[in-house]
Amino acid sequence: MNRLVSLLAAIVMTSLSFGAWAADPAAGQMKAQTCVACHGADGNSSNGGFPSLAGQVPGYIAAQLAAFKSGKRANALMQGMAQPLSAEDMADIDAWYASQTIAPRGISEDQVELATEGETLYRAGLADLSVPACMACHGPAGHGIPSNFPRVAGQWPEYLEAQLLAFKSGARAGKMMAPIAHRLTAQQIKALSLYMSALQ
Ligand code: HEC
Ligand code: HEC
Repeated sequence: MNRLVSLLAAIVMTSLSFGAWAADPAAGQMKAQTCVACHGADGNSSNGGFPSLAGQVPGYIAAQLAAFKSGKRANALMQGMAQPLSAEDMADIDAWYASQTIAPRGISEDQVELATEGETLYRAGLADLSVPACMACHGPAGHGIPSNFPRVAGQWPEYLEAQLLAFKSGARAGKMMAPIAHRLTAQQIKALSLYMSALQ
């Protein structure tokens, strides 16, 4: 219970810190011109190496940009992109992508078995390994919960898999995600990534 209360307090604090000025999505679209080549004109990227940003929960993109800028989230490319951005720029860009819609993604018939394995893990977790159900934080339909818990529905499976492997290896720091990903096998990560990408 105490953990839940402090979690909720953390969420409220994060939302407050983004509320210092009214984020402007139109200004954000202008400021995101340098991002189009990789993340797409409307935040739907055309390559699994680059995450789609459209429809992300408000607050998450600004927080990740701040983490790239400070080096807390290590990625040489994105660190360079985030360097010139002010907190206000980040909030505007955040508002722009949050206002866009992510394109739904399907799966082919030969992927159904793997996706079903992912569905069980996503909805129930793994009690014997103390892996919590992913949907507790990312939502039953993968839409995320503002502002800390990102949307995973519709994201590229390659990107989701790469991030889970990065949490597992420690290459991406994550207080909540690292211990979870650490207990998953590469096969379970593949199944989860496919399932999450197909959520709508
Ligand atoms: C040359 C390609 C490229 C450009 C240009 C680029 N990005 Fe990225 N972006 C990436 C890659 C690759 C990643 C994945 C990084 C990782 O694996 O941690 C990423 C990750 C991100 C993430 C994290 C998404 C998530 O779901 O956690 C955000 C937010 C982001 N970029 C925003 C931006 C913004 C805003 C700009 C423009 C100011 C931008 N990017 C420009 C390639 C690019
Ligand atoms: C206790 C809450 C919680 C649970 C349970 C949880 N997550 Fe997460 N997840 C998070 C948070 C918080 C982040 C953002 C991490 C950050 O800010 O760097 C995240 C990030 C992610 C990301 C990266 C998304 C992106 O756009 O970069 C993926 C993929 C992910 N989680 C998958 C899962 C899967 C699969 C499960 C179940 C096995 C799961 N999560 C369970 C809290 C949770």
